[in-house]
Amino acid sequence: MANRAHGAATLSPAELPPRPETAAPALAGGWPLLGNLPEFQRDPVAMLSRGWREHGELFRFRLGPRKFVLFTGPEAHDFYFRAPEDELDAKPVYRFTVPIFGRGVAYDTSPEIMAEQLGFLFPALREAAMRKFALIMFDETKRFADALGAEGEIDLPHAMNELTVKIASRCLIGQEVRDRVDTGFAEAYHGLQNGINTLGFFLPRLPTAAHRNRDRARRKVAELFGGIMAARRRSGADPDDFMQTLMQARYKDGRALSDDEITGILLTVLFAGQHTSAVLATWTGLELLREPSYLARVRDEAEDVYGEAGAMSLDSLQQQVALDRAVRECERLHPPLILLIRKVLKPLRYGGRLVPAGTMAMVSPAVSHRLPHLFDDPERFVPDRFAPPASEDKQHHYALIGFGGGKHACMGKHFAYQQLKAIWTVLLDRFDFFLDAEFPRPNYGSWVTGPETPCRVRYSRRSGPSVFR
Ligand code: HEM
Repeated sequence: MANRAHGAATLSPAELPPRPETAAPALAGGWPLLGNLPEFQRDPVAMLSRGWREHGELFRFRLGPRKFVLFTGPEAHDFYFRAPEDELDAKPVYRFTVPIFGRGVAYDTSPEIMAEQLGFLFPALREAAMRKFALIMFDETKRFADALGAEGEIDLPHAMNELTVKIASRCLIGQEVRDRVDTGFAEAYHGLQNGINTLGFFLPRLPTAAHRNRDRARRKVAELFGGIMAARRRSGADPDDFMQTLMQARYKDGRALSDDEITGILLTVLFAGQHTSAVLATWTGLELLREPSYLARVRDEAEDVYGEAGAMSLDSLQQQVALDRAVRECERLHPPLILLIRKVLKPLRYGGRLVPAGTMAMVSPAVSHRLPHLFDDPERFVPDRFAPPASEDKQHHYALIGFGGGKHACMGKHFAYQQLKAIWTVLLDRFDFFLDAEFPRPNYGSWVTGPETPCRVRYSRRSGPSVFR
């Protein structure tokens, strides 16, 4: 009811005329034409964290002619990840992947077909498959460790890349591709990876030398995969892997997938899962080296687990809780994807603010994972923050978003955790590692944020007995 005291009318919220929606506050410090681009290029995480400190969970900024907003914090993430595809669309952002993955798959098709295509793979990530993957992860890392000899030096990101290509090709595609890693596949795959560059992000079809190499590499991969599929059909071979799963899959309308679609889906999964895993494996190793007391706990835990189990398995990896928390802490401090981006197709309303269509909307795992009201002493590596009673990751829905959320949430999170744990269990069992240089800074120049390279680490073989029997 209206309050007429002092002759002035005070209206209840229901009686108030609707509040005009205002634009999100703008981040200060922009330049004419360039907007906040120079500051963003210097250090995007520092700039976006400044925005959060100054304006809270939603603010806007400009990078050149493009308008952006950043959503920060669990409630804002929830809103972002729940938005339907016809309001927040991932497709325009990932357009640069179309020449790599190919026509008619992933972001070159409707959201429904993309979901159907990725959905074919869920059975290939179920527990029975994860049990086999544990053995492959162990075997590949052991072979990798054998090849290192007694002592030496590695560039850690490069080494983790090499190892995860082998694990991913064997687990996620098929043995035949793994067998060809050193005889053509790795080279073609790197040719495709090099096709991801800033120019390609905006103009993926521009006929540059890098793009011509990328297209050649795509043809080579298609030829290789096509040859393997043809050989399987001839021999009637029926291995239990992603390629075979897709060869036997049918769309809802009964149609089988073409070889090119299968190649594209396999490349989608490989691109989503391999480099990201290599980068998080690198950060995990680096953080453990920086924190010897926690590293000792990880080794003690491995002794306890494998003193009983003897061999690596899905179950033994699941018992390695201290290592799991170390990986989670690295997901928090060093999320490989620091920004997730969508295009706003219809005006969005959030907290009385209006975000117009055409804006690019972001969430940033790197910014959100350092919010001091969610994570105590957020700059520090403290894996025990995830242990009860604090369980900081469980206090808020979407506090940790290193693997995204909503309908585009990562399908490979468990695979990635399992792989990273297998890698560091074997490597820490075999070697002592030393980082002689300063802890590296993140390299924001790449789509996936790893440490600046070179990032050399010395190693020497440990003399004691192995935890594995
Ligand atoms: C440390 C490793 C990994 C990280 C940090 C990571 C992170 C992410 C993130 C943040 C997204 C959401 C992207 C967005 O919303 O725009 C995503 C999506 C995806 N991830 Fe992962 N991922 C990792 C490993 C993997 C692995 C191993 C696989 C495959 C087994 C995989 C398959 C995918 C796929 C297919 C998508 C797209 C899902 C969709 O759009 O529907 N990822 N990942």
